[in-house]
Amino acid sequence: MQPLIFPTFHSNSRALVKQYLTPALYEELAPLKTHTGFTLDAAIQSGLKNPDSSIGIYAGDAQSYSTFSSILDPIIHAYHAVEGSIEHRPVDKTLLAPLDPDKAFILSSRVRVARNLKGFSFPCHITGQDRSRVESLVSEAIKKLPRNLLGSYRGFKGLVPSQMQDLLNRKQAFPKGDRFQDAAGINRNFPDSRGIFASLDKKFMIWVNEEDHLRIISMESSSDISGVFNRLCSGLDHLSNWLDFAFNKKYGFLTSCPTNIGTAMRAGVHIRLRKLEKKQALLKRLVNRYNLQIRGTGGEKTLVDQGIFDISNKQRLGICGTRIIENLHTGVAAIIEAEKNL
Ligand code: ARG
Repeated sequence: MQPLIFPTFHSNSRALVKQYLTPALYEELAPLKTHTGFTLDAAIQSGLKNPDSSIGIYAGDAQSYSTFSSILDPIIHAYHAVEGSIEHRPVDKTLLAPLDPDKAFILSSRVRVARNLKGFSFPCHITGQDRSRVESLVSEAIKKLPRNLLGSYRGFKGLVPSQMQDLLNRKQAFPKGDRFQDAAGINRNFPDSRGIFASLDKKFMIWVNEEDHLRIISMESSSDISGVFNRLCSGLDHLSNWLDFAFNKKYGFLTSCPTNIGTAMRAGVHIRLRKLEKKQALLKRLVNRYNLQIRGTGGEKTLVDQGIFDISNKQRLGICGTRIIENLHTGVAAIIEAEKNL
């Protein structure tokens, strides 16, 4: 057996994996493998190669969450700020009024959940053959969607660069993953077996084989976050009749990245805040008070541009989807109120 060499994280790294991985823990976990052969060394590659990682660890399959629980548990508790036991709760439909019926501030509302299929390795560890089986299973399941969600699936393989660019411009494709995903192995063989399903009205979409097997998305150019959420729940209910999702009692839905486990849900709005843009401290206070987070509208780790903010839930674990929507609704209403009063 090869001697174990404790990995060296970049001196500037503040990744949670660096904070919690002690030499003793490494010695305990490094020799282990999940039944698909996933190892701790593979799980921490992205954190080692990207000093600006916030957590720096990915799961290669559902079993990673138990085999490597002595490193993942503390990271999950720290990231999600949950204490004690975690209970996964089902969702209910919500009937909240649109936040901004006059469209003065909110440009669009979006809710997504991540799901992985039970019995398959997650994207950083999946084989090409299994990735293609995932694509086939999802393609079959979407044919059974109810009439209002029907649409078509478009695989990216074989598209020439100009076609791909056109789809990207129209948000009908996702690009190859970022350097964090790349180092984790998620971009292998891109764009094979990747694609997007979109309903005819483009309000319901499924990304296939991106960071998770499925990213199920409901969105529209309105402030009706409740309607957007209910559409997502309906699509998800139908898909669950045909697809079995990786789930465990302790952590809810299991995802590639431990930041997404639980509800695996991110619900948010794109909102124009011309005045609060100049009062960053006040905006930050409001966002924190309601447990929300700000991103740029270009996606994760992008900057805010032209006063348009992406405001979404921070909490995904230890909370149910319905509560996430209610919190977002209350928080964004307060932010709009503050903007109006300035
Ligand atoms: N691995 C990256 C980091 O540690 C991304 C974390 C969250 N984002 C995500 N897309 N999973 O910073």
